[in-house]
Amino acid sequence: MRSNRLIKLVVAFGVPAAMALVLALPAPAAAEDVTFTRDVAPIFHRSCANCHKPGSIAPMSLLSYEDARPWARSIRDKVSRPDDDPERMPPWFIEKNVGIQKFKDDPSLTPDEVATIAAWVDGGAQRGDPAHMPEYNLEAEEWTIGTPDLIVRSPSMTLPGVAPDWYGRMGPAPTGLTTDRYVKAVEFREVRHLEGEAERAKEGDLNYFVVHHAVVMATPGAAADGDSDQDASAADAAEGTASVEGRYRGLFNVVWELGQNATIYPDTLGVKLPAGSGLNFDLHTHSIGTDATFSIDVAFDLHPEGYEPKYTNAATFGSLTYDLDIPGNKETVIEAMYPMDKAGLLLNFEPHLHSSGRRMCLEALYPSGYQETINCAGYNHNWVKVYHYEDDAAPLLPKGTVLKVTAWYDNTAGNPRVADPRNWKGWGSRSIDDMLFLLSRVIWLTDEEYEAEYQARSKGLTVTQNNN
Ligand code: HEC
Repeated sequence: MRSNRLIKLVVAFGVPAAMALVLALPAPAAAEDVTFTRDVAPIFHRSCANCHKPGSIAPMSLLSYEDARPWARSIRDKVSRPDDDPERMPPWFIEKNVGIQKFKDDPSLTPDEVATIAAWVDGGAQRGDPAHMPEYNLEAEEWTIGTPDLIVRSPSMTLPGVAPDWYGRMGPAPTGLTTDRYVKAVEFREVRHLEGEAERAKEGDLNYFVVHHAVVMATPGAAADGDSDQDASAADAAEGTASVEGRYRGLFNVVWELGQNATIYPDTLGVKLPAGSGLNFDLHTHSIGTDATFSIDVAFDLHPEGYEPKYTNAATFGSLTYDLDIPGNKETVIEAMYPMDKAGLLLNFEPHLHSSGRRMCLEALYPSGYQETINCAGYNHNWVKVYHYEDDAAPLLPKGTVLKVTAWYDNTAGNPRVADPRNWKGWGSRSIDDMLFLLSRVIWLTDEEYEAEYQARSKGLTVTQNNN
C-alpha cells in the first residue's frame, strides 16, 4: 500500500515512471522531497484559501508557509478523514465511491492530493524553494464566482449580545437595476461592522456569525413589501411546503445558510431580477454574547442583457416528512419517498437535516423498476453544503420516478453538534429540533421537453435498455 502511494506521488511530480519505481524504494526520501512552495501551496490556494485567508471565515490563514506550518499535524488529520466525515476539510462531504461525481466548483481533494499533503507533513513540513511559490491575488479571489456584476447590501441591523433568536424581515434593499436581468451565479456573505481597529484586532471575533439563515428573494418593486405571491412561495420553500407547481415564477429566491457555498445555475435556467426590484431578507438570527452590527452582501454574476432563458420553471422539493421520531442516545434512520408526477432535471443535491443529522442518500426508483443511487453525503449542520451538478451530469428523471431519501441521525454524545443527547427530537424549526428536507432544485419538464433533453443526452452514447 505504502509504496504504491509513493509511486503515485513521484509520478505526479513529473519523474518518468521507470525511474519512479527506483525512487520509491527509500520511502522517507520521497516524503522529504515534498515541499510547501511547489507541491502543497497550489492545493491550499485552490481548495482552502477561500476560507483560510485574512478576513474570511476560518480561524487561520493557510496562504503562506509561515501561516500553514504550525497547523501541519492538524491539517494532515483533517484532510485524511473519510469522504463523509463531518469534520473533514475542506467541508464537502460527497461520498466518492457511489453516485454522481461531477460537480461545479468542487474544492475536494483527490486521493493523490491527500497523499501529497500527508507526505509533506511526514517529511517534516519543508518549505522548499521560495521561487516555486505561486502567487495568490487576494483581490481577484475575493468571491468564488469571480468578479461580481452586482453586489446588493442589505440594510444593517444591530443584534444585542444577549437576546432570544429572532425571526423577521430586513429589506427590501434596491438592486438598482434598470432592465430585467438574469442570474448566472450568486454568493452571500455576512458583513460585520466593527467599531475601530481595536475591536477588529480581537482574534476570533469574526468567526462568530449571527445569521443562522436568510431566505433572500427578489420583490418586483424595491419599495414593495408584504405578502405578494412571490413572498408566499418563498415562505413555502423555507417552511417546507413543497412548491412543485412552479410558484417561484422564475424570480430570484435562495435559502442561504451559514457555511453554504455559492449557488451556480445552469445557463438554461432563467432566474430573474426584474428592473426596479429589491431584495428581501427573511432572517433567523442568533445572538453571540457581544452586540453585533451586521448586514448581508449578495454578489451576483449576471447573464448579459438580452439573454433569453430556456426554462423558468424551477422549484425545490422541501420537507419530505414531518413525521420524525428521533429518540435520545440513539442513531436513527428515516426514509421518505417523493413520487414525481412530472419529468424533472435535478440541478443539485442539497440535504437539509438539523444538528443531529449525519448523512443522507438520494436514490431514484425509475418507472422501469430500475433503481439507482444518485448521491450520498455526510452531513454537518454547521456546513450546509449544496452540491451543484455539472450540466451534463445533472440527473434527468422521467415522469413517474420515485425519489427515495434516507437520512441518518446521530442523537448521541458522539455527535458534538447535539446539545443534550438525552432529548427526544421531532420536527421543528430550531436547530436542536430536526428536519428531513431535500432542498435540491429541480426544473420541471413537459413530456416534450423531457424527450428533447433525453435525445440531446443520448447523442454519442450507446443507450442500452435495461430489461431486468
Ligand atoms: C468553506 C470554508 C473552508 C474551506 C474551503 C476550508 N476550511 Fe478549514 N476551516 C474552516 C473553518 C470555518 C474552520 C473552523 C471551524 C471548524 O473547524 O469547522 C476550519 C478549520 C480547519 C482546521 C482545524 C483548525 C483547528 O482548530 O485545529 C484545519 C486544520 C483546516 N481547517 C484545514 C483546512 C485545509 C487544509 C483546507 C483545504 C484543503 C481547508 N481547511 C478548507 C473553513 C474552511
